[in-house]
Amino acid sequence: MIRGFSKLTKEAKIEWLVQNYFNGSEEALNTLKTYWHSDAKLQKLHDEFIENTISNFYMPLGIAPNFLINGTEYCVPMAVEESSVVAAAAKSANFWHQKGGFKADVLSTTKIGHVHFLWEGENAKMLNEFIANINTQFYTESDGITQNMRKRGGGILDIKLVDKTADIPNYYQLEAEFETCDSMGANFINTCLEKFADVLKAEISISNLDVKEVEVVMCILSNYTPKCLVKSEVSCAIEQMVEGTDIAPAAFAKRFKTAVRIAETQPYRAVTHNKGIMNGIDSVVLATGNDFRAIEASAHAYATKDGHYGSLTHVDVSEGQFKFWIEVPLALGTVGGITKLHPLVKFAHQMMGNPSAADLMKIAATVGLAQNFSALRSLTTTGIQQGHMKMHLLNILNQLEATEAEKQMIVKYFIKNTPHHAEVVDAFKRVRGGEVLGVKP
Ligand code: MEV
Repeated sequence: MIRGFSKLTKEAKIEWLVQNYFNGSEEALNTLKTYWHSDAKLQKLHDEFIENTISNFYMPLGIAPNFLINGTEYCVPMAVEESSVVAAAAKSANFWHQKGGFKADVLSTTKIGHVHFLWEGENAKMLNEFIANINTQFYTESDGITQNMRKRGGGILDIKLVDKTADIPNYYQLEAEFETCDSMGANFINTCLEKFADVLKAEISISNLDVKEVEVVMCILSNYTPKCLVKSEVSCAIEQMVEGTDIAPAAFAKRFKTAVRIAETQPYRAVTHNKGIMNGIDSVVLATGNDFRAIEASAHAYATKDGHYGSLTHVDVSEGQFKFWIEVPLALGTVGGITKLHPLVKFAHQMMGNPSAADLMKIAATVGLAQNFSALRSLTTTGIQQGHMKMHLLNILNQLEATEAEKQMIVKYFIKNTPHHAEVVDAFKRVRGGEVLGVKP
């Protein structure tokens, strides 16, 4: 147990850590230091993003070019560690570019927050009337907080009382809806909600209700954002669904449709299916400095909207047409947070032409759809391991500390095959032993 750890200097924190958990190892210390940025000012910026920073945690930043969305071409930034994710997105972007690209549309941008409170009065109807009577005060008293947001076209949209006493005795919510424009809006919403709680407490104390006090349990936005929704879709004639030579376009489209139906109805499959979608979405969310935990939580909650956990993507194969789409809640921001602070995040936004939050929603949803298309395309034809292991091959070879020449020879060796871990190790040993490998038949 250590007290006051956060008050120590960064060096003292590291010294304590290395002494207590690494036996004072020089190597552990150097590992941390190698990842420090050489520009001290930039390093300090990163240090101050969170508490107790000891180093930086690198993640590859890749790009998926050729994303044609509503006629605009994007080169999309993706921060992700999984080998095949960027390759899959890029492959899908190319496939759909040739067929007119993706069409994306923001369906709504409303966010929701709650003041959760307990009121022990008898007459919920009177409480409802009371809230209706003081409703404008929530707006006027938060005027100062909402001023800037209103100038940008946003602000509070609605505030209402929700009676939740059937779930928990005496429990009510002030449910507020907000438009937060280009910001994700968490701070704005939470500040407004805390103000509403103050107004509620003050006004109820001078009301004519039978109980003149409320217990405010908490004030917090909801990361479930089903009203901050975006749709992206692709479509083409079924005969354009050419996938290699082993399967006819119509058979491919049919099998693809069955795969989506499985994910729509089977939670075990749906979770993996949606995980693949989130491979794409999270990578964009992370690269653009947004909160991937919030996005994940909301997307999975949305996947249960029909009463069971199901697919976020859907497909229609009819009248000679293949149509594939995603509908997903994405509360993203392009201002605030670290969007203008983190140099790589700034770079990512610039690379896409500094999109609005609505445009970023369209881009992220599209990458999710593209990712899912690639995954299903592999799963329903070659199997997932072919592409995945090809990408993972370099990880295995790096782990084995293969030289560049060894890597080149082994990658070429497996060009026509799906390598399994043991086979890669075997090939590596042979090459290390001096054997020259050709291409594995
Ligand atoms: C792997 O990260 C993601 C996939 O499992 C997604 C899927 O099965 O649809 C390939």
